[in-house]
Amino acid sequence: MKSIVILISGRGSNMEAIINAAQGEYRVAMVISNRPDAAGLVFARERGISAAALDHKLYPSRESFDQALAAEIDRCAPDLVVLAGYMRILSDDFVRHYAGRMLNIHPSLLPAFSGLHTHRRAIESGAQVHGATVHFVTPELDAGPIVIQAVVTVLPDDDEASLAARVLKQEHRIYPQAIRWFLAGRLRVCDNRVRLLASALVPQTLTVPALEQ
Ligand code: GAR
Repeated sequence: MKSIVILISGRGSNMEAIINAAQGEYRVAMVISNRPDAAGLVFARERGISAAALDHKLYPSRESFDQALAAEIDRCAPDLVVLAGYMRILSDDFVRHYAGRMLNIHPSLLPAFSGLHTHRRAIESGAQVHGATVHFVTPELDAGPIVIQAVVTVLPDDDEASLAARVLKQEHRIYPQAIRWFLAGRLRVCDNRVRLLASALVPQTLTVPALEQ
């Protein structure tokens, strides 16, 4: 069975959705947090998944931390590395090492609102739609090839919290889907664009998910 390693920094609700969706289709080999107090570690351990904290504050540089992290990940030899609310900038070497086999979820319709505070910025911008994006990780922040997006309407009464909650619900739907596609060998990247294959061999058009609340 194909396996994944999930990196988190906190709550871990996307990690939970991914663990719950595994259903014998893939194995979560390990969950690693860069913060020892990440709530998600508790959930993973309760599910019998090996869960470790690697505290970035104990390392002298970003590079040395990322090297230790990569060593831990590679001991599991996963097919895919999944960033699920992992809130650290990655060193170039780390990104290169996992090129084409590392996904991230970002709470906006990229390329709009990369970086932080996406929900607040979406509301302030007057955008009428917002959402979430799963993408391959490349050295440029939040800029890798897009695998799947989910769209939500920005409602007139939305505040940051209400909009974030609706987006998060969609994140929990699209991330497991992207992981299944990847592990089934159905994703091909060409010229920074992702094609979804009907099977591991036959190309087909990527289906854009319907607008949902
Ligand atoms: C999620 O909304 C995720 O999209 C976001 O952090 C949250 C983590 O929640 N990630 C980023 O902003 C990455 N740039 P979770 O820990 O409950 O999954």
